[in-house]
Amino acid sequence: MSKKLYIKTFGCQMNEYDSTKIVDLLRATQSMDQIDSPDGADMILFNTCSIREKAQEKVFHDLGRVRALKKMNPDLLIGVGGCVASQEGENIIQRAPYVDIVFGPQTLHRLPQLIEARKISGKPQVDISFPEIEKFDYLPESLAYSDRRKGNVSAFVSIMEGCSKYCSFCVVPYTRGEEVSRPLREVLMEVVSLADQGIKEITLLGQNVNAYSGAIESEEEESMADLALLLAYINEVPGIERIRYTTSHPREFTQRLVDAHKKVNKLVNHVHLPVQSGSDRVLAAMKRGYTILEYKSIIRNLRSVCPDMSFTSDFIIGFPGETEADFNATMKLIEEIGFDDSFSFIYSQRPGTPAADLPDDIPHKIKQERLLKVQEKIKYQASIACKNMVGTIQRILVEGSSRKNPKELCGRTDNNRMVYFSGDLNKTGHFVDVKITTASSKLLRGEIVQSIVEPSSFIEHNFCH
Ligand code: SAH
Ligand code: F3S
Repeated sequence: MSKKLYIKTFGCQMNEYDSTKIVDLLRATQSMDQIDSPDGADMILFNTCSIREKAQEKVFHDLGRVRALKKMNPDLLIGVGGCVASQEGENIIQRAPYVDIVFGPQTLHRLPQLIEARKISGKPQVDISFPEIEKFDYLPESLAYSDRRKGNVSAFVSIMEGCSKYCSFCVVPYTRGEEVSRPLREVLMEVVSLADQGIKEITLLGQNVNAYSGAIESEEEESMADLALLLAYINEVPGIERIRYTTSHPREFTQRLVDAHKKVNKLVNHVHLPVQSGSDRVLAAMKRGYTILEYKSIIRNLRSVCPDMSFTSDFIIGFPGETEADFNATMKLIEEIGFDDSFSFIYSQRPGTPAADLPDDIPHKIKQERLLKVQEKIKYQASIACKNMVGTIQRILVEGSSRKNPKELCGRTDNNRMVYFSGDLNKTGHFVDVKITTASSKLLRGEIVQSIVEPSSFIEHNFCH
């Protein structure tokens, strides 16, 4: 009989991706099936995030809640993975001795061995090391259906792990290790396998995907592929019709990558480019490695090859020493670029980071007011962008029926906006042209004007008859 696995994921897309890998791995090696509630589980895993204080607190709160389940079922295995595990290590066992396994983002592939060692030794197991990208060598092949969020039409593919930028506020380089890229061939094989399973849209994933430098296997000397080359190769994979990437960093946004937006026809016209602040003074204190002028010149270059490109960004509000003038510079930048979505958060002091030594001198009330202003401004800009889409025809990849109204379909535009429209469920996984009819705030509705015959399905169709 199969065992039951409950996994709770906190935080970022990287964690969500890692969780799908864990589910695949434990299904293949331990015959475990994922369930949606911790009740009745044989194993409970928390894939944690420590990017901000609040995310970290939630983990210990949740651990306390599953403790009772362990009392009722002493065979229940409880594991903690992700960035909190990486940062806290043994401390987790000290604080919550009923935890059986602690593993990091780079050792999740060792879970089967850790489970075994836990059973044999009867002692909790901790492995939060950073073995050089062996992770992917030990994981089973990606399965399209493991990504539960977007039906079976879209999948993430991790192309690089970790981060070597060491922004002064951020824990990621310490919890996930330095940047390491997967070899080109390995990434392409995963994309081809996903395409064979019917995936139409690929999102290349990493903390800084434009730092990608994947080894190209060759008889002669080793050479490296950058993100632009990787995109060009993926563009040729039959069945893949749309390519996204996230997150890119302003520091390594090369002209080759800008040009890729012109040449790689399956690449979407949306870039998520975290800026964090509109003030050069704050950017320097954050150790971001670029100025606002440099940031704006990337945007200008991208707009010169793709005039209707949409931009989204990340902001940190209330970084130590952020003055009213610094904050106003952020507001000015938001308006100038016309960002239409963002992840914006109040600065959170993270232990062990250089910025943690700076006096966190801005009153919380001021930080909250500033955050609200940023969010309102971006929300307003998003609503204008949505209104401007009314009357246009957008290419939508149908993800399935809408959660709120099963009679309605939903899917995303190239610029990553969800659109709702009526149509047949058998359009799931296909592209349709939808005319946008209404927009309220971020909510877009439309009607299908035409189904698009994708080259790959066209070939299949011909072949069958
Ligand atoms: N690679 C991305 C960052 C990934 S981390 C980049 O180019 O910047 C995701 C986001 O979390 C960051 O962009 C930042 O806005 C936010 N973040 C990181 N550390 C934070 C902290 N200490 N406080 C508040 N937000 C933080
Ligand atoms: Fe963090 Fe900066 Fe890297 S925000 S993930 S250290 S680019």
